[in-house]
Amino acid sequence: MAEIYLDNSATTRPFEEVIELQSRIQRENYGNPSSIHARGVAAEKLLDEARRSIAQLLQCREEEICFTSGGTEANNLALKGAAYRWRRRGNHIITTQIEHPSVLNCCRRLEEEGFTVTYLPVDEQGYVDLEQLERALRKETILVSIIHVNNEIGTIQPVEKIGALIKSRHPRALYHVDGVQSFAKIPTPVQRWQADLYSCSAHKIHGPKGAGALWVRKGVSLQPLFQGGDQEQGLRPGTENTPAIAAFGLAARLCAAQMAENAARLYHLKEKLCRELEEAGVEFYINGPPPAEAAPHVLNLSFPGIKAEVLLRLLEAREIYVSPGSACHSRRPDPSHVLTAIGLEEARLSGALRFSFSSFNDEEEMERVAEAIAAGIRELKALAGRRPGQ
Ligand SMILES: Cc1ncc(COP(=O)(O)O)c(C=O)c1O
Repeated sequence: MAEIYLDNSATTRPFEEVIELQSRIQRENYGNPSSIHARGVAAEKLLDEARRSIAQLLQCREEEICFTSGGTEANNLALKGAAYRWRRRGNHIITTQIEHPSVLNCCRRLEEEGFTVTYLPVDEQGYVDLEQLERALRKETILVSIIHVNNEIGTIQPVEKIGALIKSRHPRALYHVDGVQSFAKIPTPVQRWQADLYSCSAHKIHGPKGAGALWVRKGVSLQPLFQGGDQEQGLRPGTENTPAIAAFGLAARLCAAQMAENAARLYHLKEKLCRELEEAGVEFYINGPPPAEAAPHVLNLSFPGIKAEVLLRLLEAREIYVSPGSACHSRRPDPSHVLTAIGLEEARLSGALRFSFSSFNDEEEMERVAEAIAAGIRELKALAGRRPGQ
């Protein structure tokens, strides 16, 4: 039976065209984009085309796109680059309790270096409270960093309202949006949000691993994290990963061409999975916003009385791949910081699984997944019933 891959927040299967383009470039177009001969110029053209594709999705200028090795690097460059550049202006940073570890751990490091960080709480659906943000803003605030789509529960933050608030109260504070889970999935008009910085990553949109980008609004100055040549306008020195970046550009174009259609399809799949589970008599809770309000590709469910880890293994045995919480710390036993921040009690925390979808999934898979979950839960309950003393 074919596998069912429902861990698309962790990473996605690359499009065939992306794999072909990347290997063709490795073979045929291996020039260094900084070289001034024809091979170099051909490689530089590949970067230009990718830059154009990313810029189109963000509705920004091509020269504002800085390629990185992925979302983690883009987030580090945004946060540390802004903090080090502007530390004389102030030492205060605002973020949320439900950021990706690449932002949270960056903030913790900056705290060790003398910065002060406010971690805004969120409500039970994962939304930031604008009044709390307003109260947190102060004259020393140099940066606000907000996750656009949460990778575990799919909450879409009101990034436009947040931008309007920051810029009306404290226009000198930079506004960074971690868009790794929103890029090419939902519209991302970064200038309309009054944002200054936006991170994205290729492998979340059926592109290759090892490529990402930071959008840096014209006029915004960051301190580079590496010293080297003048690639990416000196902001990110080092020979660009041309094959992966060109493949990133192609993945972005392919996703952009079917963004609205794909989102509608994924909402339908989420609804179908929930309906199938209900019909199979499975008891479950939805963690985070209602599925139709969350990002199209994320659905976080808790199965009360069930250990997520055990159910995950039963599904894996049927070649169905899902994640407990977020893949980045799913090997650690501690509960998800996101599910803790939205106030889930222990039973729901330990029974939470994240299902994340892509255009490769279909309705029939949802039926198989619901059947497998129902069977898995029956199996676990039967086992528990047989255990001595229970
Ligand atoms: C919201 C968010 N930000 C940043 C990252 C890190 O991106 P990358 O895996 O490209 O380093 C991830 C990856 O899961 C993510 O979901």
